[in-house]
Amino acid sequence: MTIRQMQEEILRLKQQNGVLVLAHSYQRREIVEIADFTGDSYALALRAKEAKERAVLMCGVRFMAETVKILCPDKRVYLSNADAGCPMAEQLDPALLRALKAEYPDALVAAYINTTAELKTLCDVCVTSSSAEKILSAVPEKEILFVPDINLGRYVAGKLPEKTFRFVQGGCPVHVRAGLRDAERARKAHPNALFLAHPECLPEVTARADYVGSTSGITEFAKKSDCKEFIIGTENAIVEHLQFERPEKKFYPLCKEFVCHNMKLTTLTDVLNCCRGEGEEIDLPEETRLAAKRCIDRMIALGG
Ligand code: 13P
Ligand code: SF4
Repeated sequence: MTIRQMQEEILRLKQQNGVLVLAHSYQRREIVEIADFTGDSYALALRAKEAKERAVLMCGVRFMAETVKILCPDKRVYLSNADAGCPMAEQLDPALLRALKAEYPDALVAAYINTTAELKTLCDVCVTSSSAEKILSAVPEKEILFVPDINLGRYVAGKLPEKTFRFVQGGCPVHVRAGLRDAERARKAHPNALFLAHPECLPEVTARADYVGSTSGITEFAKKSDCKEFIIGTENAIVEHLQFERPEKKFYPLCKEFVCHNMKLTTLTDVLNCCRGEGEEIDLPEETRLAAKRCIDRMIALGG
C-alpha cells in the first residue's frame, strides 16, 4: 500500500465506523493530513468534549487519550500507539505529591495537563501551556504548588508576581535539550528571523524569544506574522507543518534534537488498526475518572 492509499482507507473507515481522529500538533505530517482536528493539548481537550462520534482516536500520547476518556466516558477512546507515553507525565510520584501537599496545606495544586490520571486526582486544577496564565490569575488562592514542569511553572510565575509559586524539579526531556548557546547560534545564523519558543524550554531560552506560547500559539503567530523567517523553539514537527502551510516563509529548527520519540511512534498503520477497532482502548476506573475530572472541568471553566 502507498501512503496515499492507506490514508484513503483510513478516511473511508473512520467515516464508516464513526471515529473522530484527533492529532496533537507534534504528530507526523501524514497523520495530521487525515485527522479531523489538530491542535495543542488545550484545544484537543475542548474538541473531544464536543465529539458526536461513537469513538475517538487520539493520535498523541497517553495522558491526552486519558483526558478524552475523562471527558467522554461513554465513548470508545483509543490511543494510537500503546507505547506512546509522555515521560514528564510520569515523573512525579503520587506519594511525593501527597507529602508536598501536607507541607503546603494552603497552596492550590496546579497540574500541567501532562500528568497521569492518577496524579490529576490529587490536584485542584489542570492547566496547559496556552491556558496556565489565564487560569492561575483567575483562581483566588495566592499560593500555588505547580507540578510537574518547572520551566512552564517559572515562566507563568514570572507573569503573575502577585502569587507565590512552589515547584518540584521536573520537565520535558525534549525541550530541555536546547540551551543558551543554541538560542544564540540560531539568532546569529538567522538575524532576520523571529524566534518563537514553547514555555517548556529552559528559562535562558525563553528569555531570548520574541514570542513564547503553546504549539497552537506558535503556529498561529508564525502564520499571521508579516515576518518571513522564524526560528521554531519546539518539537520539529511544527517546523514541517508550518513549512507546508506557509511555503513562502522560512522556518528553522532551534535544535536538531527537538524530536519527541513518543509522539513519533504513531504510524498510519496504527491509525488504520484503531479505525478498525483493533487498537488499545483506554479504560479508567470510574473513581479515578471522576476525581481526575474535577480539575479538568475547572480548567475548562476558567480557561474559557
Ligand atoms: P501544547 O499544550 O503546547 O500542545 O504542549 C504540550 C506538549 O508538550 C505536548 O506534549
Ligand atoms: Fe512529553 Fe515533552 Fe514529548 Fe510533549 S514533547 S509529549 S512534554 S516528552
